[in-house]
Amino acid sequence: MDLFEAIKTRRSIRRFSDKPVSDENITTILDLVRYSPSWANLQCWRFIVVREKDNIKRISELSYVESFLKPMGYKANPATKAIAEASVVIVLCADPTKSGTIWNQPYYMTDVGIASQTLMLAVRGLGLGTVFVGIFEEDAIRNLLNIPSNIRIVGLFPIGYLLDEKKEMKMPERKPLSEIVFYEKWAD
Ligand SMILES: Cc1cc2nc3c(=O)[nH]c(=O)nc-3n(C[C@H](O)[C@H](O)[C@H](O)COP(=O)(O)O)c2cc1C
Repeated sequence: MDLFEAIKTRRSIRRFSDKPVSDENITTILDLVRYSPSWANLQCWRFIVVREKDNIKRISELSYVESFLKPMGYKANPATKAIAEASVVIVLCADPTKSGTIWNQPYYMTDVGIASQTLMLAVRGLGLGTVFVGIFEEDAIRNLLNIPSNIRIVGLFPIGYLLDEKKEMKMPERKPLSEIVFYEKWAD
């Protein structure tokens, strides 16, 4: 798939068919992610590939952070079902000490953010779907997967084949360039 097309047609996919995603596809995705840029090339990211059904079910349950989502009227994370339906979930972790901070901005989040986009585009390029899940019970998932306390969990990526391409590929609105781009100087 052409790069521009992949960027424009990547969507958050929250329903998957029961066709399993192969190990080969997961290796292709993670191999591409390695090419992402990072602070001083320190590559702070680490990935856990989760396939065990019980673990996936538990991770799906742990994607509902009640104290955060309930006040907003959510009874589940919009991605809870996607996680439960996926044959594989990639858990994106970061070692904050393997990146830099300047002017109080910790760049490990940027590093893993870039890696996340590479991951999502690679998934799209293979004709598969995923969604960045950033709301979850971090400590409980840390315990479940034996992740050390100095490592942050930044995202969950359930990956699968699309169930309903037409419905899932609807484009959420984007701000026009006129609203987000200034020329020469910041303008209100
Ligand atoms: C940092 C981050 C965290 C996100 N967390 C969640 C989440 O917890 N649950 C979910 O369903 N979608 C989550 N999303 C997906 C966004 O809702 C989605 O990207 C946005 O609505 C735009 O839709 P699109 O990805 O189809 O273009 C997250 C996206 C990002 C970048």
